Amino acid sequence: MRTAKLSCLIIIFVVLTSLSPALVSSSSQDRIEQRINSLLARMTLEEKLGQLQQLDGEANGNFRPEHVEMVRKGLLGSTLNVRGAARTNELQRVAVNESRLKIPILFGFDVIHGYRTVFPIPLGEAATWDPAALERSAAIAAREARAAGVHWTFAPMVDIARDARWGRIAEGSGEDPYLGAMLAAARVRGFQGSDYSAPDKVVATAKHWVAYGAAEAGRDYNTTDLSERTLREVYFPPFKAAIDAKVGTFMTAFNDINGVPATANPFVLSDVLRSEWKFDGLVVSDYTAVMELMNHGLARDEADAASYALNAGTDMEMVSRFYNKHGAALIRSGKISTTTLNEAVRRVLRIKFRLGLFEKPYADEARETNSIFTPEHLAAAREIAARSMVLLKNQGDFLPLSKGVKAIAVIGPLADSQKDMIGSWTGDGKAEEAVTLLTGVKSKVSPQTTVRYAKGSELNDNSTAGLDEAVRVARESDVVIVAVGESAEMSGEAASRSSLDLPGQQMQLIKAIHATGKPYAVVLMNGRPLTISWIAENSPAILETWFAGTQGGHAIADVLFGDVNPGGKLPVTFPRSVGQVPLYYNHKNTGRPPDLNNKYTSKYLDVPWTPQFPFGHGLSYTKFKITNLKLSAVQMGRTGSLTVTAEVQNVGKRSGDEVVQLYIRDVTSSVTRPVKELKGFQRVTLQPGETKRVEFSLGPEQLGSYDRSMRFGVEPGEFKVMVGPDSANLVQATFQVR
Ligand code: BGC
Repeated sequence: MRTAKLSCLIIIFVVLTSLSPALVSSSSQDRIEQRINSLLARMTLEEKLGQLQQLDGEANGNFRPEHVEMVRKGLLGSTLNVRGAARTNELQRVAVNESRLKIPILFGFDVIHGYRTVFPIPLGEAATWDPAALERSAAIAAREARAAGVHWTFAPMVDIARDARWGRIAEGSGEDPYLGAMLAAARVRGFQGSDYSAPDKVVATAKHWVAYGAAEAGRDYNTTDLSERTLREVYFPPFKAAIDAKVGTFMTAFNDINGVPATANPFVLSDVLRSEWKFDGLVVSDYTAVMELMNHGLARDEADAASYALNAGTDMEMVSRFYNKHGAALIRSGKISTTTLNEAVRRVLRIKFRLGLFEKPYADEARETNSIFTPEHLAAAREIAARSMVLLKNQGDFLPLSKGVKAIAVIGPLADSQKDMIGSWTGDGKAEEAVTLLTGVKSKVSPQTTVRYAKGSELNDNSTAGLDEAVRVARESDVVIVAVGESAEMSGEAASRSSLDLPGQQMQLIKAIHATGKPYAVVLMNGRPLTISWIAENSPAILETWFAGTQGGHAIADVLFGDVNPGGKLPVTFPRSVGQVPLYYNHKNTGRPPDLNNKYTSKYLDVPWTPQFPFGHGLSYTKFKITNLKLSAVQMGRTGSLTVTAEVQNVGKRSGDEVVQLYIRDVTSSVTRPVKELKGFQRVTLQPGETKRVEFSLGPEQLGSYDRSMRFGVEPGEFKVMVGPDSANLVQATFQVR
């Protein structure tokens, strides 16, 4: 009897403990909703509208005098750019001690690739093909930002970009929805952890919702016009991955989508985000995007703009003040319902509760001093930067260089530029803390090595005054490193270009160095694919380093001198000519696929149709072989799955990393499919001679597509499976879905 009672108790205990995590989280969620209800019941209309207002601080991190008064009256819910523990605490004290309802302020900031310790630009981080590295860099950025009083980062930017003219390609993960989705989720995990109320976490933002990267002609803020299919297949997946990783907030995009600007687009904001994906977090507009609804030609006036945006599902207004100014009248006239308003306020408060701001409104000022720019963070920045580098070419194993070389020349407008090294979204990063390539090289080579430097040219002007000096320095040296590319401001926001060539006299500089006959390596720093055909054909070695961040110079030197074997891969296609853009690997086959022997096929008269460097390309100082592609089945049902395995072997003499990439092709389908679609990848490290087996699984999620009625599913027929080191060199097998 006693044993029966005991076992009964044990069973109850086991059931309760196994249930408890769910119970705890749903009950804490319930408690949050109750607290929101009780606040909402006490809020005036003005206070509610105040929660929906976000205003900009000063660039240096200060709040503005008017913020204090607004906060005191409960008329300001959030700021952007206000940062620093003491400053945020000062304004927060006004909210908590002096406002009627004591609702804390939400401090937002663009922590894009690091807060003070700057990591490579996002496109560079994407070139690691290593979600764990991105998670780590985001976690460090979050630790530093939260210590400085920032609760909310406007990152990750997860816009797919197929057009290198668009400067914001630098801020995302490139052209591929699958890679983009994996990396979006990793960044969200890194920023938020499992609970973003933790003192070293921030709430993340998936932005810009949506299709911003599809701006026509690559011109920033431009219109987009896309089918629902393209939206769902190409532009949505990284956002959905962010949702699955529990991202707290979304930001609307500036662009018009199929005639309805994203900030007022009920299809994307309401039907997809809220109804389909069940997102209960907060949506903030982009900077003055509510105001811009008038320029778009949607809203007649300020009130109309507010009504469009709030009714569509944009909860918080960044910088423009139309909700605040016109909200009360719109409610009175019934153009906005109280339910809609309350729902928006509820979402803002929900994030504040989830961040734990009501319990812990203040930043810990001691933490700010000891958890920012630490040696550990710098070491991670150096390691991740080195992992992001892509060896585009290495003729005759020219790289790595010997540290014992007698004389080395470091040449180029980017060779000693601190401000460019940290890229275009530098958070609170300081150019004077960045390590340049010249410094990196000097601290790498032997004490006997002479290091000479010449700028050679400016980045972007017509002067050739520096060329002679550069040539002289090159002639006096045994080896030359030439650092060329773009300035940091030539990519990022409002930095579209119609040419993808190296700007200014930089090509002249490279040709002049080339003419000396000295062996040289080209180090590229840039925020987008560039057209570098001459260099690709003539220069011995090319290392793509993006904008590598605070520790960039050390990381580049680590790679150039072989302390790190490069293993990054391109997350974007490099075209040969800007006229090929948009050029991406996952295109359709067309009815007339390119055929050199047939004029009437899909190609150009003046440039090959192929890219200069394909998506996924990247070399190593060792060599790999990918063989033994095997499928666990050659036939399967529509809901089945199969396992793909392949072997990768290091057949060279150094240890190194290979990124094994898995692509599929649905050969025939009721709706045509791309010639290749990435569906898996693994970055593996192999010692010389070592072989590893990599395994991928393909099921309905990877094999499915949208049919003509936009229903997602797997269609019967033949599928190709391709595995290789990039999107162009693949071994393949086939299977059938019945
Ligand atoms: C950008 C956003 C950014 C916001 C706040 C806008 O101009 O498009 O990406 O988060 O400014 O700085």
